[in-house]
Amino acid sequence: MRSDYKQSWTTVSKTKSQAFKSVAATDDEAEVERSGQATTQFLLENVGITSDDVVLEIGCGIGRAGKFVARHCKRWIGADVSPNMLKYAAENLRQFHNVEFVELTGYDLKPIATGSIDVVYCTVVFPHLMQWDRYAYVEEAFRVLRGGGKLYVDAVNLCSDAGWKVFEAHRAILPLERVPEIGECSTPQELVEYLRRAGFESIKSKPGDELVAVWGQKPKS
Ligand SMILES: C[S@@+](CC[C@H](N)C(=O)[O-])C[C@H]1O[C@@H](n2cnc3c(N)ncnc32)[C@H](O)[C@@H]1O
Repeated sequence: MRSDYKQSWTTVSKTKSQAFKSVAATDDEAEVERSGQATTQFLLENVGITSDDVVLEIGCGIGRAGKFVARHCKRWIGADVSPNMLKYAAENLRQFHNVEFVELTGYDLKPIATGSIDVVYCTVVFPHLMQWDRYAYVEEAFRVLRGGGKLYVDAVNLCSDAGWKVFEAHRAILPLERVPEIGECSTPQELVEYLRRAGFESIKSKPGDELVAVWGQKPKS
């Protein structure tokens, strides 16, 4: 069942190689590092992360981006629904002393205290969630952020040629053969609407080739 995220993602991350492939479509560590650096660079340039920030990643996987984000912030918290992913993330980030790992139910951020986070980001996770669960994380991010804190989310962009290619590739899979965690596309408007409805302001959206990135700020007071 698609919404049983814990079951699906624990199953696809039984070995390190499987976990890396589920997250990054490759278990070539150099390639995974390159893409983690690129994601981090985007966050630094567009959203902004400072050395005083406590940063939370929702759906951190093996810590592909966390391994680089952790170098730029005071504390990095990797949260994921899959205990296997968290185990491989902890291995992958073992050289850092400013990181912690939190297991989620898949539907909320209950283990994270209200107003305790400066930046929340969630990358390459929304395609795998049902729309109500995407919005639940946006609402929960609003709760855990301090006033002035920032949220970044992204999704496969239905309105780009590369995103449409993903749509067509997944449409070609017979309905009963689609795995529960298959990626679904979003429109930029969908993500902007979630942030607006949850109360974020200064919302920005940047369509890339395949992903559309949207970020915003929780009002200061
Ligand atoms: C494609 S991977 C992306 C991992 C990481 N964000 C990255 O960019 O490398 C999707 C991740 O989201 C996690 N995930 C899936 N559903 C989730 C949910 N409902 N709550 C939290 N994490 C979830 C999976 O376990 C997996 O680690």
